[in-house]
Amino acid sequence: MNRRRIVIVGFMGSGKTTVAEALARQLGCQAIDLDSFIAERAGRSPAEIIAQDGEPAFRQIETDALLEVLEKKAVRVIALGGGAWTIAANRAMVAKHDCLSVWLDAPFELCWERIISGKAVRPLAPDRATAARLHDDRRASYELSEQHLKVSSENSARSLADEILNG
Ligand code: S3P
Repeated sequence: MNRRRIVIVGFMGSGKTTVAEALARQLGCQAIDLDSFIAERAGRSPAEIIAQDGEPAFRQIETDALLEVLEKKAVRVIALGGGAWTIAANRAMVAKHDCLSVWLDAPFELCWERIISGKAVRPLAPDRATAARLHDDRRASYELSEQHLKVSSENSARSLADEILNG
């Protein structure tokens, strides 16, 4: 397969994991969710790591894990955690590994609805105002990705995966 590998970025609740899974199904390849990879390795979820060791410690674990995943050439699709793309060193690593970065640009309301109804614990989005501010602050980083995809509640993961594959 000579298609570039794909890294999905975007805010919490933008649909990164489900879109990565849909892409992997369509490409018949392997996808990795970075948060799940970290949880498996550490025996603790990202939320637990942040709560127990603090965010800076989690970011270091996340960067190490990202490098490890990028080195696995069989992995064609990677879903990042919402903060990973905001770290310049992580963006540089993704570029160095020649991956296509795709931003799922989902409006705050949609992300928030999913954050409060989902089962994942998100310590960095403890309340609506904090999450909204973070959503705003992070736009500038997400805009540095190569492909931008507007996401609404109408879009299925499958249709978003189609859009990504059709460029
Ligand atoms: C984070 C998002 C989470 C997880 C951690 C930190 C963030 O991933 O990595 O709680 O900084 O936005 P999701 O985007 O999959 O929720």
